[in-house]
Parts: sequence; structure tokens; C-alpha cells
Amino acid sequence: MGSMNLEMIERAYRRHAPGYDRYFGKVLQPGRNAVIEQMRCRSGDHILEVGVGTGLSLPLYQPGVRVCGVDLCHEMLVRAQQRVTSEKLDHVSKLCRMNAERMAFADDSFDKVVAMYVVSVVSNPARLIDEMRRVCKPDGELFIVNHFESTHPFLAGAERLAAPLSRFMGFHPNLNLARLVDQARLEVVERRGVNAFGYWTFLRVRNNKRQLAAA
Ligand SMILES: C[S@@+](CC[C@H](N)C(=O)[O-])C[C@H]1O[C@@H](n2cnc3c(N)ncnc32)[C@H](O)[C@@H]1O
Repeated sequence: MGSMNLEMIERAYRRHAPGYDRYFGKVLQPGRNAVIEQMRCRSGDHILEVGVGTGLSLPLYQPGVRVCGVDLCHEMLVRAQQRVTSEKLDHVSKLCRMNAERMAFADDSFDKVVAMYVVSVVSNPARLIDEMRRVCKPDGELFIVNHFESTHPFLAGAERLAAPLSRFMGFHPNLNLARLVDQARLEVVERRGVNAFGYWTFLRVRNNKRQLAAA
């Protein structure tokens, strides 16, 4: 898998920002809807969305929650802020530029932490998940929607061929889910396909940081 550093990722999304909603808006919106529905947010929940991008998910949260969004790319965040202002999304408490692999938030700050189409973008997915776990309350949950390496031999072959183009596309097309679960010691409690042909995967993950610390 061709590796990307922070600078390359930021550069890729600076380039994608103007057309992002046109290309990745509608087509990936069923997955965003599915995650937010499955988060079963309650009034008062404090939610962190890592890699919030242009904020396409932000109008989908119900009123009464507080959502904080972080992203590495200023140009993506500018668009998220414009959406918050124009759609008067009062539940969005904060948007800030931050590396989600090394966040400035204190431990146990959020009830739920969500990553939509981000895990295969960051330079170190296991480190991102460790950070999501750290800032989430011990009894909280993590939610992920992402494309993982296909189990279909033909598609998996095509994804492997596309892998060297990661830095231009801004994501890795062939992140292996089983390997990630193992490396990041993920306790997946629910998994299902979302978006067209179920090609993307929704994961509900228990925050097992206490168990990991005790082991
Ligand atoms: C494919 S976009 C997904 C955006 C949004 N979640 C969505 O549903 O459209 C990936 C986003 O992750 C951001 N990103 C990549 N690496 C990051 C990091 N280390 N920390 C924070 N954001 C990051 C990118 O800047 C980009 O906005």
C-alpha cells in the first residue's frame, strides 16, 4: 500500500475541496445517513466527528446533540463552516483544524466518536483508532464507515492495481479490514454493507480501552 504523509493528504484534499461535494456528496450520503441513524444519539450527547471534511454529515444530526468536527485540511473546513452558517446548524459546537491521529482533546471527552470515509485516508489507521478510543468515554462507542479491500477477487485485483495512485486519489483503495481489526484491537459489535452494492462497510465498535489497559 503506497503510504501518504500528512502533507500529501492535506495537499490532496486542498485539490479535492472545490469539487468534493459534487463527486462524493450524493453517492456516499446513504452511508452517512446509515451511520448517524445507527449512532442512536440522545439529546445532550457530545459527539466528535474526525475528518469532518466539508461537513456533508452535519445537517443529518438531530437537534439536541453537540457535534465537534476536526479535519486536517483548511479548505475542507472552510466549506464545513459555510454550511454550518448558511444552514444554521446550531448543534455544531466547534470545527477545528487538527490531526485526528494526535488530538488536543483530553481523555474521555466524547460520548461517541465517528469517522466517515477517513480510516483509509489517514497515514496510520491504527493510530487514528487509538486516538478515537482515548478521547471517547470508556462506555462510549466508535463508529466507522469506510471502503475496505474487496473480498471479490476481480475487484480486489483492481484495487491493488489502483493502490499506487493513493496520493492522487487521497485514499487507499485496499485497506484490509481483518488486518486493521487485529492491529487496532477493534471490538466490532456490528458490521454491515452500505452505499451502492454494499461496497462500503459500516462498523459499530465498543470502546474497549479499559479492557486493553487491564490486559
Ligand atoms: C474522504 S474525506 C471524508 C470527509 C467527510 N467525512 C465525508 O463524509 O465526506 C477524508 C477527510 O479526512 C481528512 N483527513 C485526512 N487525514 C486526516 C487527519 N490525520 N486528521 C484529520 N483529518 C484528516 C481529509 O482532509 C478529508 O477532509
